[in-house]
Amino acid sequence: MGHMVSALGHMVSAGGRAAMPFARCFHGQDVVITGHTGFKGSWLALWLSHLGARVHGYALEPPTTPSLFAMARVAEAVDHTTGDVRDRERFLALLQRVRPRFVFHLAAQAIVSLSYSDPVETISTNVMGTTIVLDALREITWPCAAVFVTSDKCYDNVEWPWGYRETDALGGKDVYSGSKAAAELAIRCYWHAFFRAGDHPVRLAVGRAGNVIGGGDWAADRIVVDCVKAWMAGGRVPLRSPAATRPWQHVLEPLSGYLALGRSLLESPDHNGEAFNFGPRAEQTRTVVELLDDLARRWGFSSSAEAYDIVERRPFHEAGLLKLNCDKALLALRWTPTLTYGECIAMTGDWYRGVLRDGADARALTLAQIAQYETAAVARGAGWCLADGGVAA
Ligand SMILES: NC(=O)c1ccc[n+]([C@@H]2O[C@H](COP(=O)([O-])OP(=O)(O)OC[C@H]3O[C@@H](n4cnc5c(N)ncnc54)[C@H](O)[C@@H]3O)[C@@H](O)[C@H]2O)c1
Repeated sequence: MGHMVSALGHMVSAGGRAAMPFARCFHGQDVVITGHTGFKGSWLALWLSHLGARVHGYALEPPTTPSLFAMARVAEAVDHTTGDVRDRERFLALLQRVRPRFVFHLAAQAIVSLSYSDPVETISTNVMGTTIVLDALREITWPCAAVFVTSDKCYDNVEWPWGYRETDALGGKDVYSGSKAAAELAIRCYWHAFFRAGDHPVRLAVGRAGNVIGGGDWAADRIVVDCVKAWMAGGRVPLRSPAATRPWQHVLEPLSGYLALGRSLLESPDHNGEAFNFGPRAEQTRTVVELLDDLARRWGFSSSAEAYDIVERRPFHEAGLLKLNCDKALLALRWTPTLTYGECIAMTGDWYRGVLRDGADARALTLAQIAQYETAAVARGAGWCLADGGVAA
């Protein structure tokens, strides 16, 4: 906790008052999150609970052990249902019981390497699961805003240096990426066929983001997680593709985009059926080795040699740089990222170090980082805060 506050302390200047930029919109509302037992879903569930929403989670068991869901006791903060998104009747029963104002669909098989070992399950979950959620939403008879989370990997990566725009072609050379592009097509055709006419009470939109890091992720084959696991075991991490560049962003950045998108959908039909990119500023792009050097310093290593070994081993196709152009989110939602690259690393490193080495409470630290992020966004005049009147609690 102390580390985290020092990581962000210099950017917080809201006079000591807690700022809750989305509270006016989400306070007292019923919100369904699919995939709330996962990494991003757990952060989103805790953020929405902190905003005063009644959160109803629907997902399979946590995909990892340990998990943020278990460590931060997310089940105690939400109405928790274990279920498969491909089970239409079960998911529909939840919608009809809860009558949510918002639905955030995050449930997915989210790991690229697993999409090679189990391609059918990946496509089934990501494409049919999304289709079933869409189909259940057809039955809704009350105003509801639905945000579908896909990925920056849904774009046909032609390895150019420019940011991809929402109108660029969909594609995917690995099964995970292709499944996310296919999910986008399912969303698009369902919207045209069933939701577009304007007489349906559901409005929906898509959020695309990628390369998310942050405390509490335990998923396989993600570089930060691999580091933390190796360092906790007293070892070094094998580092392949050290020169690969990625636009890293903290998990709270795309989540603020999804929340801003949900709010916008509920308030106006302007962006119904549209897709939005949520990514970091171009200057946040770093190589994998730069990221590890910075994280290793934050962890307390005095030299990189203690932290990783560079090895040449590429078990599967890895795309080159894929950047997102986020002009549309700025213009339409007044959304911009809040954190610098350094702050993103500091928050991530401090979460793992605080919880794993210093015995901090995972729930308390996660909520503290959410509050610090909100306060920083308000202090920096982020447009998505002003849109909510900058509500202070
Ligand atoms: N983490 C990233 O870097 C990243 C980047 C881009 C997009 N995304 C997308 O964001 C979303 C969340 O990602 P994450 O990193 O939190 O993933 P995660 O693997 O941590 O969590 C996935 C969640 O989906 C649930 N789930 C999986 N299959 C299910 C099924 N058949 N029925 C019901 N629930 C099921 C899991 O139980 C879990 O709650 C996913 O849609 C993912 O594709 C993540």
